[in-house]
Amino acid sequence: MNRTTAIIIGIVALAAIVAIGLWVALGSAPIPTAPTNTNTTQTPSSGEELEPEPAANAPQSTTAKAVIVDKAFSPATLTVKKGTTVTWTNQDDMGHNVVSDDAAPEGGPPKEAGLFGKGETFSFTYNTVGTFPYHCSPHPFMQGTVVVTE
Ligand code: CU
Repeated sequence: MNRTTAIIIGIVALAAIVAIGLWVALGSAPIPTAPTNTNTTQTPSSGEELEPEPAANAPQSTTAKAVIVDKAFSPATLTVKKGTTVTWTNQDDMGHNVVSDDAAPEGGPPKEAGLFGKGETFSFTYNTVGTFPYHCSPHPFMQGTVVVTE
């Protein structure tokens, strides 16, 4: 019984020494590490706040695509940001065009234009906020709308 007790005390004492050693080693390390992490976290976060500003400006020079298939504009309605260049690609075997409706506000495509054929494209850059209805002049039933937002 005495030997067993002595062995148990010895094991507990060893475990306590190891635990204290670990506590000192681990306990002392995180203290300088934690402020270092806080500093490095704060520095990039202030830098990241500056990055969204150029990112917010970037979408103003984007592009959008539409197609002409089976005598129809697809998508028929496009919503884009001001400054976006919209490009229509004709996938039909016949010529089409993209012209503003007579009642459309200024800022959209011209009201008269030549036709473009299969595989050809027409592009227009929308720099004015508003709703711009357009159609194809030989096929007035072909109608579409570009909505331009700020
Ligand atoms: Cu057409």
